[in-house]
Amino acid sequence: MTSTAHDVGALADFGERGARRVQVGRHAIVVVRWDDEVYALRDTCAHQGAPLSSGTLCHHVTAAAAGAPIVLDPDSRVLRCPWHGWQYDLCTGRSLHATERARVRTYPARVADGRVYVDLG
Ligand code: FES
Repeated sequence: MTSTAHDVGALADFGERGARRVQVGRHAIVVVRWDDEVYALRDTCAHQGAPLSSGTLCHHVTAAAAGAPIVLDPDSRVLRCPWHGWQYDLCTGRSLHATERARVRTYPARVADGRVYVDLG
């Protein structure tokens, strides 16, 4: 574990699938647990600044056109903003909004000995 990795809590405290805001110094971070994987992103939506920790977890859903069949990507892991619904890929922080190229910063996160660590770099 590097010296910039911060212990942000026990894995069990994050539930099996959920998002929670943690404060590490001046950094507000949303830590997401999705089963046995953890992710960390800046807790500020790139659109108008909503706290992503109040968002919802879902899969990426698309449709080729209005009225076309909806396709769900079961391998995707997405955090949906609570205010206007922008969706972010948990791995990259990239917005999945077709018309936007925004992203939120991501941080390396991992589990060791039942604790969640976030590396602020
Ligand atoms: S503030 Fe997040 S989508 Fe608008």
